[in-house]
Amino acid sequence: MGKAVIIVGSRREGNSYNLAKKIKDELKKDRIVSYIIIPGNQKIHLCTGCMDCDENGVCDFTDDMEKNIDRILECDTLIVITPTRWNLPSGDIKIFMDRLNPLYSNNKLKDKKFVAIAIGATPKDVYSSYDAAKALTNFAESAKMKTVLTYEFNNCVDFKDILNQEDNINNLIEKLKIIIK
Ligand SMILES: Cc1cc2nc3c(=O)[nH]c(=O)nc-3n(C[C@H](O)[C@H](O)[C@H](O)COP(=O)(O)O)c2cc1C
Repeated sequence: MGKAVIIVGSRREGNSYNLAKKIKDELKKDRIVSYIIIPGNQKIHLCTGCMDCDENGVCDFTDDMEKNIDRILECDTLIVITPTRWNLPSGDIKIFMDRLNPLYSNNKLKDKKFVAIAIGATPKDVYSSYDAAKALTNFAESAKMKTVLTYEFNNCVDFKDILNQEDNINNLIEKLKIIIK
């Protein structure tokens, strides 16, 4: 049975977190194990670009990325949920991506399944969350992962707006169950 790690790009208990929690709870009903990581609430140094990790696959910093990387190595599916900010993923997600560079040089992300989810306040036809989701899949491609699903949620302004989109959420979760198993 596969395992998934869900990375949440917003620090508030808003739409991204509420979606992550719902996914985790529903997966659990099918005995699928998943872990939620909220990088913004952790101690994570910014990548300095020293490139030492390209040589030895290890970052010089000692912080919460060590346990995050262990989790990612344990899981075969990565689900990234980001709020759309300026048509892009959140800064917390970018910081997290950069700190995954130690896994690049020795191909440890290669062939992991990748799910990109972007949430935005604007309507779908503005293409704002589309761009944010595209940035996530660009990262996955660069890291040699396989994007198996891209999903967008629009019109999410207040903390829990996303929970009104029950059909979309159920559809997403059914797809995730098939992907992760
Ligand atoms: C700095 C900032 C920039 C934002 N830029 C966009 C944007 O470009 N497009 C969009 O649709 N929503 C934008 N939003 C709205 C958030 O994406 C939206 O409220 C989302 O549901 C927040 O997710 P959260 O509740 O998980 O934090 C922005 C919000 C912030 C704080």
